[in-house]
Amino acid sequence: MAITTKCIHSRFILLFLWALLILGCKDSSVVVQEPEPSNEYTPLRSVAPFPVGVALQSSRLGSALHSQLVRTVFNSVTAEYEMKMRHMTSPSGDYIWDPTDELIAFAKEYDMQVHGHALVWHQSTPSWLENFRGTDAEFEDAVKNYITNVVGRYKDDVVSWDVINEAFEDGSGALRNSVFRRRMGPDYIARLFQYARDADPDVLLFYNDYGTIWDTAKRDAMLSMVDDLQTRGVPIDGIGLQMHITYNTPPLSNIVAVMDAVVQRGLLVHISEMDVRVNPQGDLSEFTSVRSELQKQRVKDIVTAFMDLPEANQFAITWWGLRDPESWLIDFWGNPEWGLLFDAEYRPKPAYEGFLEALTGN
Ligand code: XIL
Repeated sequence: MAITTKCIHSRFILLFLWALLILGCKDSSVVVQEPEPSNEYTPLRSVAPFPVGVALQSSRLGSALHSQLVRTVFNSVTAEYEMKMRHMTSPSGDYIWDPTDELIAFAKEYDMQVHGHALVWHQSTPSWLENFRGTDAEFEDAVKNYITNVVGRYKDDVVSWDVINEAFEDGSGALRNSVFRRRMGPDYIARLFQYARDADPDVLLFYNDYGTIWDTAKRDAMLSMVDDLQTRGVPIDGIGLQMHITYNTPPLSNIVAVMDAVVQRGLLVHISEMDVRVNPQGDLSEFTSVRSELQKQRVKDIVTAFMDLPEANQFAITWWGLRDPESWLIDFWGNPEWGLLFDAEYRPKPAYEGFLEALTGN
């Protein structure tokens, strides 16, 4: 790759980060290995032709090392949980703006875009809605008000929203029987999109789900919904393909096929929530170089496939966390995991090199 002034500048920032890490560790007397020269790396944001994002928790921004690494490497952020309904409001329905305001201020200061996740998710329904006592029409008004207030407040700061997350069941592709489905009826998704569009004519609106790569019933349900929304002129701009995958499944051809189906419909592709599990069977108690190399190749393959899409359809790739030990995967699956781009000591892993190699064609 040609060494540009920007690249040299970026390397300088990263060397500064390493120095900070070493000083920080002296203070807390944690012994870490000084990084090898091969750990010198180029920030993804300085070479990627599309936004590269990471999920954040606002409390972690208090760590200088964490926030400096985030803003140096990435140019897009998503709240890992703080912009979900159950966190944007109290159990009684009062808005909680501070964590999102903080995250957005951080993003603005460092020239990063914000992807909103997620306006509606059945797993983050606050009790004031789950136990709503009014009529169905009043329920819908409350949901509409929520969308109008949240999307409206962040109109100038959030470029895109996951309007609804994970609406379809595994295996059957049936609509989940959430309180939204029960109260608003089977066409509720179309109205959610419309309320979001009415609140901000410019924001990009996404449907986001997992399993659409390997669960054909779910994939077909999602694509039929898209076709239906598009036929009726309901505003939808893109699809988030949650990339919670493992080092050896699902096959790359499946991932490419779903991305192609999204492109055929003229929509943006968001590789969202990316992490690559290396220990799905629980056979590892420590990260091995073999799995690390397989993980690297997997990341490289997926980024390469994304870059092969028409540029106009490449929305972003977003990682679901920064460092391995902070990943949701560990609690969720109950195995040791190393699914992200940085290790516990904030060092880029071979997977990071895989991402860079795909970007630079090396
Ligand atoms: C997870 C977060 O990582 C956790 O911190 C939180 O407690 C629960 O949600 N699919 C999604 C994400 O769409 O919102 C989930 O994030 C992971 C699965």
